[in-house]
Amino acid sequence: MESSKRQQALLAAERLKATGRLASEIAHELNTPLGGILMYSHLLMEDLTEDDPCRENIVKINKLAHRCKIIVQGLLDFAHQEIRQSGPVQINRILHNVIGFLEDHVLLKNISVETHLDPTLPMVAGDENKLEQVFVNLIVNAIQSMDGTGTLALRTEFALDPSRVRIECSDTGCGIDEENLGRIFEPFFTTKEKGKGTGLGLSICHGIVERHGGTITVETHKGYGSTCTIFLPVAEKDRG
Ligand SMILES: Nc1ncnc2c1ncn2[C@@H]1O[C@H](COP(=O)(O)OP(=O)(O)O)[C@@H](O)[C@H]1O
Ligand SMILES: [Mg+2]
Repeated sequence: MESSKRQQALLAAERLKATGRLASEIAHELNTPLGGILMYSHLLMEDLTEDDPCRENIVKINKLAHRCKIIVQGLLDFAHQEIRQSGPVQINRILHNVIGFLEDHVLLKNISVETHLDPTLPMVAGDENKLEQVFVNLIVNAIQSMDGTGTLALRTEFALDPSRVRIECSDTGCGIDEENLGRIFEPFFTTKEKGKGTGLGLSICHGIVERHGGTITVETHKGYGSTCTIFLPVAEKDRG
């Protein structure tokens, strides 16, 4: 890399780190008072009769506080992408588990799920919980993009490169507008209506994959669907 580009990359990495620190501090500061608002609004709701004229407003306060809680949790996740454990991890098994616990989700009802998992896939060095979070985020995005019907395909592959495994999550959803494609990994970038997205999912995925020494890219055809591709390094002892 030429030196000015390296300088820019370093600056961007520093900025991201500082943003992460700020996000973490704000989230921690907000977490406790927010818990209080939730608790007291809940207590008030319990005290009021069904027909009390104040009830409607308190229900609203409670709902909005819940929404804040989700955003704060997203910020905490965004700030805590560091890998805690780094054991050998079986990607196929994680994908299997994630599909397993999403299977009953109403949104998956009319979506067919295809899996093509390479049985020769070697272990990856990583944090199982964090990688699981990555796949949950990608699958949730894929499902949301399909609006009820379509195909979700998960593919793993170990063929081209002995040092990396390839993981793909494809959907036949709405695709991504050209002008948005460059922004999807930005924290808080979302095209979803209020209450549906925080815009933190892909930025969290990006951070986690990078900390695993991997890469994440998205390809899309507007109106036809999107494919997210991740490469992760093979665990040392599994390297050929
Ligand atoms: N599979 C997908 N299909 C279409 N658009 C997607 C997909 N994944 C991500 N996006 C776009 O990227 C944006 C950012 O995604 P994300 O960071 O997960 O935040 P959120 O899902 O909360 O909006 C989404 O709002 C959407 O516009
Ligand atoms: Mg998302």
